[in-house]
Amino acid sequence: MISRSAAAKARNVHVLSRALSSRAASVLNALDIPTAKEVPGVYDGTWTGSGEVLESVCPTTGEVLARVQAASPHELQTALAKSREAYKFLRSVPAPRRGEILRQIREALAAKRDELGALISLEMGKIRTEGVGEVQEFVDIADYGVGLSRMMNGRVVASERPGHSILEVPNPLGVVAVLSAFNFPVAVYGWNLALAFAAGNATVWKPSPSTPLCSIAVTKIVSGVLERNGIPGAAASLVIGGKDVGEAIVENKSVDMVSFTGSEAVGRQVAKVVQGRFGKVLLELGGNNASIVMPDADLSLAVPAVFFGAVGTAGQRCTSTRRLYLHRDIAPSFLSRLLSLYKSLGPGDPLAPATLLGPLHTRAAVGIYSSAIERLRASGAELLCGAAPYATGELPGALHGGNWVRPTVAVPTKVDLEHDVWRTETFAPVLCVGVFDELEEAIEWNNGVPQGLSSSLWTRDVRNVGKWIGPAGSDCGIVNVNVGTSGAEIGAAFGGNKSTGWGRESGGDAWKQYVRWSACTLNFSDDAPLAQGVSFAPTA
Ligand code: UN1
Repeated sequence: MISRSAAAKARNVHVLSRALSSRAASVLNALDIPTAKEVPGVYDGTWTGSGEVLESVCPTTGEVLARVQAASPHELQTALAKSREAYKFLRSVPAPRRGEILRQIREALAAKRDELGALISLEMGKIRTEGVGEVQEFVDIADYGVGLSRMMNGRVVASERPGHSILEVPNPLGVVAVLSAFNFPVAVYGWNLALAFAAGNATVWKPSPSTPLCSIAVTKIVSGVLERNGIPGAAASLVIGGKDVGEAIVENKSVDMVSFTGSEAVGRQVAKVVQGRFGKVLLELGGNNASIVMPDADLSLAVPAVFFGAVGTAGQRCTSTRRLYLHRDIAPSFLSRLLSLYKSLGPGDPLAPATLLGPLHTRAAVGIYSSAIERLRASGAELLCGAAPYATGELPGALHGGNWVRPTVAVPTKVDLEHDVWRTETFAPVLCVGVFDELEEAIEWNNGVPQGLSSSLWTRDVRNVGKWIGPAGSDCGIVNVNVGTSGAEIGAAFGGNKSTGWGRESGGDAWKQYVRWSACTLNFSDDAPLAQGVSFAPTA
């Protein structure tokens, strides 16, 4: 959660440092984040920051963790200019050497895995194992980038002309801006940094203004490695700021590609502005992901997977399971097993090992959750569990001031894909259930929404699998079988179709977006024939 105030700067900072809980202090100390005064939020080779003051607020308790000084307009322009200079340096460093530096970044991150994981829990609110898992995801993609640095190959194409060859050559783009979201405040930057850096680009990172400390901690680690290797720090710049900083980046012609993770509404604006200036854009927008359970599914696998998909990260992954389509034959038994798992849930400190349910990230998100419940109630849906935020009196004292909601399972009156309860992504643990008779019907429901990120089918019948992954199957970017909608590995490209924005990050061929491709026709012969046999010689 974020709040800004000009007065914040003037507040007595000693009060803040004294008031910081020992729980928060130990996490921040381990990562060298001083909280006694404002933390600089800009890095471009040196640490600065003289813009507005942002507060990092712990979603579990409501305590202010630190105050961070965002980028002023001038500091942003300086960081962009220095990043372009850094790109000019980096593009001439051989790719395998860039890979070696990435390997060192990987090592430095791995050495701080637990501490960074704890910071993610503290500032974002996800439970500790997921926080640590998120750092692991950065480590994994860094490994991938190290390998890629020796494999970002072009191609040699057969020419129709004698003594000619055609090469397809990848070169770096320039400056890649990474606009990341609060829900994966470390890993999504990692996906972009690893590929962009291996390919020879400089990055400028604008994280969510509500997770500034995660980005500062990561940048300290990354910049330490760059500096030790004689690479300009602005090869991985950080500019913390709000909407104004984001808009200035998106509009800036010197930013060659904008990689944006966030809502469909903001993504649409970003796409228009970047495409309006013919820049490149990579979008990772909303998900509205469905799991389909067939009667032959192994429910002992499917029930816990749907539980994790819907409730894990308190429903705040792009890949969270939001829709559950159950075959009529197993719907009652599936639901009773699922609801008994929901009953075991209770709010807890995300840093405590036994906690499964953390808070929502902001107070505003509690309002969005409540409106979604209201909409469901008004539509006549049956609310099977949850369906209300926790009142303060229902929470342990330490969690007062946090953003706590009850994970909810709802059965709307019917599957009406024109209705908001099915069409919109609510970034909270709200799962809508529909009952089907034929797989084809469930696939139609899966595909009948604007978003197309992740999807999952539970079955043991290979004929269903063939249908599901084929041309009449799921239209999503992620199409799983007997695996839930969330928790993808880094090896395959990650991203979604339709209003999710068609972007691909992380593994697979995603690196190809971080380069400009040139088709180079080379003539080694003593003639200069035209292609397609065209003759263009004056007749004597
Ligand atoms: C996101 O929610 O923005 O597949 C990213 C997953 C994670 C990444 C999610 N590996 O759930």
